[in-house]
Amino acid sequence: MSRTQTVAAAVVSLGTALTLTACGGGGNSPSDAAGQGNETGPITYVQGKDNSSIVQPAIDKWNALHPDQKVTLKEQTDQADQQHDDLVQNFQAENADYDVVSVDNIWTSEFAAKGWLQPLTGDYELDQSALLAPTVKAETYNGTLYAGPTSSDGGLLFYRKDLVPTAPTSWDELMEDCSIAKANNIDCYAGQYAQYEGLTVNIAEAINTAGGSILSEDGKTATLDTPEAKEGLNRLVTAFQNGDIPKQATTYQEEQGRQAFQDGKLLFLRNWPYVYALATTEGSSQVKDKIGVAPLPGNGDGKPGASSLGGHAAAISVYSDHKKTAFEFIKFLQSEEIQKDWLTGGSLAPVLSSLYEDPALVEQFAYLPTLKTSIENAVPRPVTPFYPAVTKAVQDNAFSALSGSKSTDAALADMQASVQNAISGGQ
Ligand code: GLC
Repeated sequence: MSRTQTVAAAVVSLGTALTLTACGGGGNSPSDAAGQGNETGPITYVQGKDNSSIVQPAIDKWNALHPDQKVTLKEQTDQADQQHDDLVQNFQAENADYDVVSVDNIWTSEFAAKGWLQPLTGDYELDQSALLAPTVKAETYNGTLYAGPTSSDGGLLFYRKDLVPTAPTSWDELMEDCSIAKANNIDCYAGQYAQYEGLTVNIAEAINTAGGSILSEDGKTATLDTPEAKEGLNRLVTAFQNGDIPKQATTYQEEQGRQAFQDGKLLFLRNWPYVYALATTEGSSQVKDKIGVAPLPGNGDGKPGASSLGGHAAAISVYSDHKKTAFEFIKFLQSEEIQKDWLTGGSLAPVLSSLYEDPALVEQFAYLPTLKTSIENAVPRPVTPFYPAVTKAVQDNAFSALSGSKSTDAALADMQASVQNAISGGQ
């Protein structure tokens, strides 16, 4: 053990001893399958920036009911890759204060393989039968559930219904509608094209919609050297070249695109459902009553485009001293009450299947059936413990293609080689 590890271990065990004293022995014995730390007590919940301001109210509800097991929110930035790196650093430091962490579904395999997430078995078994199946599958690694889905995500096409009478159903129709943007002196279309996880989401959608894929079905071979993958990436490259996607979109993450759309500067925006609540209610929104929501545009065969499966789940850190509280808190986040609050307050995509058919909710959020279809048919991003290297290969090369420093062919050839290397465990 290195000196830092020894000190860290001493601090952790001191922390445990203090907690046990503070709990007055009220916690359960750690003699179950969960190992150490199956106690009740205060915990911290770590997640990305709460753009929709709905998480603290949920925690307030929990805290009012559980004064001895208070939850403190630790907010990270609103950027997926930075959230990932923050979690990795804290797991590596065996930080007992990161009790419950919100994991983006693409990180679950990596974190589970590293042994950082408490398997949700035995005392921690969650009944997930009421949830949308893809959300549960995405948190399952080698047959074991490692995190409880708390919000799903499917890509949607937000559009200006005051300017576009009928939403385009294919990429070609969308491009044709760019003449409407020109006539109104606004930009046509954007998604997330900054060099971060959101770019992988958008590139995967373009490639999958064109009939291609990043990996073969068994996940063992990169499949980016196909005409379909080329067609998908080329659609975006061409749209950047002719200005149908504005140049500044290479700096857009979710929030910058939302802002441009809310400011009335964009005709179409690919984004996640959370945009709906903010864009229809924020005082500064110029488009409050002008927003239509449609499925992502498809390949011209009548089917909608292929969304990447997004979403987050809550996992218990193996280093938490208060896993019992952590577990109960995850169940609370999955409860119908909180899932409804997060839909009505922040238009997050619920994980509970029944909410998509609730007549009052469908009345308020007419796009719910569209969203459910988007999620049920969404394509997961590659499921592998080596995901960070896979996404980096996609991001780096796609960014070069979109910003014009590599041809589509060269970008795909390099992406193919780097993705193949990444899934084989190379760097
Ligand atoms: C959303 C999605 C998540 C995705 C991220 C990319 O937060 O839920 O799955 O990785 O956007 O920016």
